[in-house]
Amino acid sequence: MSEKAIRVEGAQPYDVTVGSGVLSRVPEALPERAERVLLIHSRPLTEYAARMRNEIEATGRTVVVDEVPDAEAGKTAQVLAGCWSVLGREGFTRSDVVVGLGGGAVTDLAGFVAASWLRGVTVVQVPTSLLGMVDAAIGGKTGINTEEGKNLVGAFHAPASVWCDTETLRTLPREHVVAGLGEVVKAGFIRDQAILELVEENLETLGEGFTLESALPVLERLIVRAIRVKADVVGQDFREAFLREILNYGHTFGHAIEQVEDYRWRHGEAVAVGMVFAAELARQTGRLTEAEVDQHRRLCRGLGLPVSYPSGRWEGLLEAMRRDKKTRGSLLRFVVLEGIGNPVRLEGPDEALLRDVYDAISE
Ligand code: GLY
Repeated sequence: MSEKAIRVEGAQPYDVTVGSGVLSRVPEALPERAERVLLIHSRPLTEYAARMRNEIEATGRTVVVDEVPDAEAGKTAQVLAGCWSVLGREGFTRSDVVVGLGGGAVTDLAGFVAASWLRGVTVVQVPTSLLGMVDAAIGGKTGINTEEGKNLVGAFHAPASVWCDTETLRTLPREHVVAGLGEVVKAGFIRDQAILELVEENLETLGEGFTLESALPVLERLIVRAIRVKADVVGQDFREAFLREILNYGHTFGHAIEQVEDYRWRHGEAVAVGMVFAAELARQTGRLTEAEVDQHRRLCRGLGLPVSYPSGRWEGLLEAMRRDKKTRGSLLRFVVLEGIGNPVRLEGPDEALLRDVYDAISE
């Protein structure tokens, strides 16, 4: 695939560049005035980080490399404080820059390090997971977790640019790519039916017969389309005042699963079940047809994503949904589809109805 740049509009517009080998373009994309670069990465990306360090140093800048724990273990107050110490010791100023190289957890952390240092310095994001490329690294949501929950502390802080090098997907186990496809399918259901068609036509390549080598051409097309959906939405509503909420399709029930499962489920897998839940909720309220709910199940199952959840766990799930930050006041909020591609908000649905929906998607 030739390189593609997708513009994200807003108060500070930026480009998301997708393609094989785009990582090597990062040094030239750093702000000219930046003398120091904090390169935050997780262990699986050590080789890429070393290469990037050399390439940035060749532009005459000082690079400080900070390896942080992988995945959610890196999104803690302790790791954040460690990054602040490095910035303080190395004398980072307002004109310097933070680079986040890794999956969604690393880019969330790096974004928040940048948002909080000196009340905000530039961040350049280099997501290396499918989830990071199509969702986490775009749109400026940054943050860490606390004992009380995920992403409860954070800030909106837009990146200066985002670089999605599809070669880095090779660092991922297959299950992580599959989980990332959950967010890709979500983009299809809320906004871009061409994504759904592309997935349907390539279910064998993306599902059962998956190898990164054979899936990469279609994956690249899906990544670009999913990024366009996200870019369009966050470009119109950076702070989630209205439209951005549609990106939470499948997330109300999905987050509840993640909580109840103590985050042992991958995010995209929980979102897949959450989308089936939302689709069944839409069907039971006359918004989607049986065939459209089946389409949710067929695509997710075909990709190897779960489409149901064990029965007998409703109380814990309901409690988790009540605690979620999507709840406003005491009202539960869902994004449901009024036909494929037309998301609407459903606030405060009857609990008996939700229980019926749970019964329909559990086994
Ligand atoms: N991941 C949802 C959002 O960025 O708003």
